[in-house]
Amino acid sequence: MENLGKIKADTKESFYDMLLPALEGLISSEEDSLANICNTASLLYNNLDDINWAGFYIMKDGELVLGPFGGKIACVRIKVGRGVCGSAVRDKKTYVVPNVHEFEGHIACDSASNSEIVVPIIKDGILYGVLDIDSPIFNRFDEVDKIYLEKAVEVMNKYIKWEEIARV
Ligand code: SME
Repeated sequence: MENLGKIKADTKESFYDMLLPALEGLISSEEDSLANICNTASLLYNNLDDINWAGFYIMKDGELVLGPFGGKIACVRIKVGRGVCGSAVRDKKTYVVPNVHEFEGHIACDSASNSEIVVPIIKDGILYGVLDIDSPIFNRFDEVDKIYLEKAVEVMNKYIKWEEIARV
């Protein structure tokens, strides 16, 4: 497979307009779901600017458990309702947090993190986990990131059999 270079673009929208087809190209021809989640984490971690962590927490027996990611060692288990990730699961909605230090119950894995976005992974009405991206910059994520990262999860849902990975 061709090694993807870092995507360069003038605007956030045009960046994501290249990232999403790159994601689809990366995972559409591979059947192994874990491999596809790993490569998605790598694609995001290595292409988004100003981030220090990108990866997945997967639902297993009622709590989130660390999945494939790029970045420093992270906390392994997060209870539903705890931190940003657990709140996104509880409320089944994307959380854009401009300043994690002001977020009640934020779990600090990497002290470099200052802002965060968490997108729940919901397929056929079942919540399988979250996509979590952290930034060392305050206010790094906005509505554009939210829209496109939710689309990225939709692309993943087309090719990834989450039921093979999660225990829900
Ligand atoms: N900050 C997250 C915990 C996961 S780490 O950022 C990788 C939270 O509060 O949910």
